Amino acid sequence: MTDSFNDNLSDPLVRLFKGSKTRVFTDIHCHCLPGLDDGPATTHESIDLCNKLSEEGIAVVVATPHQLGRFDGRNDAAEIRDAAGRLNEVLQDRRIPLEVVPGAEVRADERICQLLKADKILTLADGGRYMLLELPHGIFIDVTPLLEELTLMGISAIISHPERNDLLGKQSDILARWLEYGAATQVTASSLTGALGPEVRRAAVRMLAKGWVGLVATDAHGSTLRRPRMRAAFEFVAGLFGEGLANLVCVENPARVVNGQDLLPVPSRNMQEINW
Ligand SMILES: [Fe+2]
Repeated sequence: MTDSFNDNLSDPLVRLFKGSKTRVFTDIHCHCLPGLDDGPATTHESIDLCNKLSEEGIAVVVATPHQLGRFDGRNDAAEIRDAAGRLNEVLQDRRIPLEVVPGAEVRADERICQLLKADKILTLADGGRYMLLELPHGIFIDVTPLLEELTLMGISAIISHPERNDLLGKQSDILARWLEYGAATQVTASSLTGALGPEVRRAAVRMLAKGWVGLVATDAHGSTLRRPRMRAAFEFVAGLFGEGLANLVCVENPARVVNGQDLLPVPSRNMQEINW
């Protein structure tokens, strides 16, 4: 048994925290870049959010501005890489201990593979291994063909916040099928804390119990509204499912995404045995 929370971390990005008694998180989904999407409008707001991320114990954040959907034609890969580089410089100047790496939350679209090949669309941490995939709101589409196409390019989709999608909640067998096609799912920390309502929280817990949730991320958009709640989400998951599972979905698997490593499987639990 170790005294440190972080002795299993191999990523050089978080080596500074190795041996620390502070739990260190990697956030794979955050709208922290200024002026690109519905995240912070200015660099000042962006710094406020980055301070909050750092206070939450997050050492590395993947900046994931929206691509495609209502942001079609905006936020291309080069622009996001530049914006992440500029924000890192500001954070270093201000001694804020947070590293920003480029990524995107990409709306499901039949052009994705073609746009990836043209270097317009970004994978998480720009690593060519994982893509954060956002489903459209209010309509159901079966993304199986897209998952197959991505797999041929060596990319696994991580489906963002399925617990917030009513239609997926009703057709959970479809989500299970997507997981068989190599997809993973990311649940939002605020869904687990109850900040997005009891229905969303229940859906998130049900998906966790089934072993379908590979990762938790903040999906934060600002320092006040839609703020990061990683620590509270960790404590909630640890309370329900044990610290091992909380560590897997909040710490280990997110770090693996940034490092381009395989995700570790998440065991299922019997809902009846969960005291909630
Ligand atoms: Fe998002």
